[in-house]
This record gives sequence, C-alpha cells and structure tokens, in this order.
Amino acid sequence: MDNKEIMENRERIKNAKWRQRFHIEPPDGWLNDPNGLSFYKGEYHVYFQYSPIAADGHTPRGWGHYHGADLMHMAYDKAVMMPDIPEDSHGVYSGSAIENDGVLHIFYTGNVKMEGDYDYVTAGRGANVIHVTTADGSEVSEKQVLLRNSDYPDFCSCHVRDPKVWKEGEVWKMVLGARTLGNEGCVLVYESADLINWKYTGKVYKEGYGYMWECPDYFELDGKGFLSTCPQGLPHYETKWQNLNESGYFPADGRLEDSRLGEFAEWDMGFDFYAPQTFLDPQGRRILIGWLGMDNRVYGNATTELGWQHCLTIPREVTLGENGRLRQYPIAEFDALRKGERRHADGCTAKYALPLEICGEPTADFTITLDGKLELRFDKAKQLFTMEFSDEKYGCGRGTRNAVVANVRSIRLIADLSSIEVYLNGGETVMSTRFYPDGDCAELEIKGFEAQVWDF
Ligand code: FRU
Repeated sequence: MDNKEIMENRERIKNAKWRQRFHIEPPDGWLNDPNGLSFYKGEYHVYFQYSPIAADGHTPRGWGHYHGADLMHMAYDKAVMMPDIPEDSHGVYSGSAIENDGVLHIFYTGNVKMEGDYDYVTAGRGANVIHVTTADGSEVSEKQVLLRNSDYPDFCSCHVRDPKVWKEGEVWKMVLGARTLGNEGCVLVYESADLINWKYTGKVYKEGYGYMWECPDYFELDGKGFLSTCPQGLPHYETKWQNLNESGYFPADGRLEDSRLGEFAEWDMGFDFYAPQTFLDPQGRRILIGWLGMDNRVYGNATTELGWQHCLTIPREVTLGENGRLRQYPIAEFDALRKGERRHADGCTAKYALPLEICGEPTADFTITLDGKLELRFDKAKQLFTMEFSDEKYGCGRGTRNAVVANVRSIRLIADLSSIEVYLNGGETVMSTRFYPDGDCAELEIKGFEAQVWDF
C-alpha cells in the first residue's frame, strides 16, 4: 500500500463496526503486548507490539506508539521501531522504558529466526537485549545490542526475552523471561550501574509452573514485592488456568533473586488477557495495562476481516487488598467519561447503546444476560462466577470461563463496542473478554439486583 492507501484504510477502520471507544487499538493491522509504559516529559507513553496493515499477526512486528497527557485520551503517533538490524531481523519484541536524567531509555528483545533445520528452542533463534533512547518518545536513537544469547547463563535455551527495567535505590535492575534447557520457565535478574553494562545476579522460578515465562515484571506495593509473569505450558482446570497461556503474579518478598515465590494468582479470569505491564505514574499509582487478547489458536476476533485485531485493557490501578492479594480497578480518569445514568430494575430487560457500564451491589445469586447470547452469573452455593457464551458468532468461538468467588458484594461491568471487563468486589476478581454484537446496542437483562447503568 502507498501512503494514501494506508491513510484511507485507517479512515475506514476508524469508522468500522466493533471499533472500540475507549480501548487502545492499532490504527490497522495487529496489536499484542503493551510495551514501554511510562510517563515522560508531561505525557503518558503507551507502546505496543504492532504489525502494520496485516491483521493476522504473521507479518514483522515493531513498536507502535500512543501518547497523551490523559491516559483515557491518547493519540496515535506511528510505528517508532521496526526490524532493521540483523539482531532484530524477525521482530522488535516486547520490552520496557524508563527515564534517567531527562532521557527515556527503551529496552526490548531483538528476535532472530535463523533459516535451517533447527528446533528453535535449543538452536536457531536469537534473542538480544537491545537499547535505544528517545528525547521525545517518538524518534529513537541508533539501536545498541547489550546482551546476546551467548551472554545468558548456560542453563538457558534460546528463549530469553521481554526486558523490564526499574530502579532500586542507586541500582538499575532488569528481569528477563526465560525457558531453561530442562524446559522450565524462570526469570533472570540483572543489575547495572549505568543502564548499559548488565550483570546477571540470579534466577527466580517455582516448580510446576510451565516451560516458559514471558513478559516478567517486578514491583513493590506497601513494602511487599510482587513478580508478575506469563507462564506457558500450565495444565488447565475448570476454575483456573483456563487459557492457552496464563498471566499472573507471585508474592516475592525480600531481594528478588533470593525470594521464595508465594502462591500464584491470575490477574484476569477471562478469555482475553495476557502480557500485562505496570509502571509508576507521577501520582505514585501503580498502573497496569494488559493485552485484551490471547494467542489466536483457540478462538478468534471478528474484526480481523475488517483490517485490524486486538486492543489493550483499560488502564487499571493496582492496590494491595487486605488478604495480601492485588486488586485492579479502572483508573479514576475513566469515571469522567460517563454521561447519563439510568436505573435498571431487578428482573427487567432493556436496550442500551454501547459503550455502557453496569454497577450494582448484589446480595445473592444473580444473572446478567446480553442479547440472550452471553450470560454472566453468580452461584453462591457453588461459590462460582461464570461467563458463558451460547452463540458461536457472538463469542467468536469463546465458551465458558469460571472464577471461584466466595461472595459478590459489588460488580462493575464495562462494555465497549466489542469488549467486556468485569470487576468484582472492587477488583479482587477481574474477567475480560471480547464479544461481537450485531450492532452498537445491547439488550440487557438483569436478575437478582437493581443496577445503575451509565452511558458514554
Ligand atoms: C507475548 C510475546 C512476548 C514477545 C512478544 C512478541 O505475547 O510472545 O514474549 O516479546 O509477544 O510479539
């Protein structure tokens, strides 16, 4: 496509069916992980894994860029990096960004797939830690390779990726997700005094958590440490680990390299959530953005035929709950988007324009049904919250997801044009999915509580 055709295609996509109102989507093509989340020079920066034009995810991946002073009103800039050196020939993969002395430093994985008869686990693949800087978030400096496969510990397979960098006192720290030669997922920890020279300081893992850990992140909240990561290869159960790959966090107290990881908790119990990243904003909030998507092998997305695929979640503030578990809740800026409010009486059915938000405080069992095709229900006797599609097209192949919840005291459901995020009990349990309604309205039936419905 030439430039004019690209712009025309984007214009068409902007007005297409299922185009979201307040979720970050690619202007065209494919999106996966959020990358480089940061606040720099008065603006938020949200980069993302981006394959321009082609929506199937099979074309080269770089970093797209959104920016803005308000996380709910971000503007698309451009693809700021694409593969163009031998060390990132097959993808400018995921990574992070951090400010030092007025400059934004970006670290990402340069993916290389060699041609030949390889297993691509023990040989045939390169994964390089690459560094660039930017003075405006948009124009990046020359790419500098900091670590290559030969620099990683001997127990690593070729799969080492997704650098996340943060500062601890005077020291820079970095985590990388890895697969060992014994097919165990783990996180490698590094230290640096200058962001350029990195020294390996140890590995963190927990037995029984799959063969590969992607997209690690480490942060502290109220003095407690948490290691977030995405394990691949976990077994699947009816009420946990229901997706192809999982995403969650381990409490990790003390120095990360020496910590014994606590119990794994999933970030989101829905069909579509992976590869989240967090950052600290100027107000001191720990904000998480995830990919509101999943590897496509199990279910698809109806937007693909229209020229784009996937979006990011609403930015969520992460806080520490009383039980030591983390809560996620839409950032306060989201509330300012609300317009009118209506009462929806218990037992009623009514049609609403999308986007919509449902708020309520149930006291017992309840069901919420959208278009007669998606049911959300809470069964107190079974202590189960369930999301179930009864229509192949509406869910684009999605079926059922369950979460064990002792009691639902509050619910917030945010439906954009083609996604739903459910926050139970102030964000103690979250469940996200894509859905594909016929139009830009949804018929809503609620049984079991009186709800407040917001429009936008
Ligand atoms: C996770 C992931 C990362 C990788 C990126 C490539 O979804 O597989 O590990 O860096 O996607 O797009």
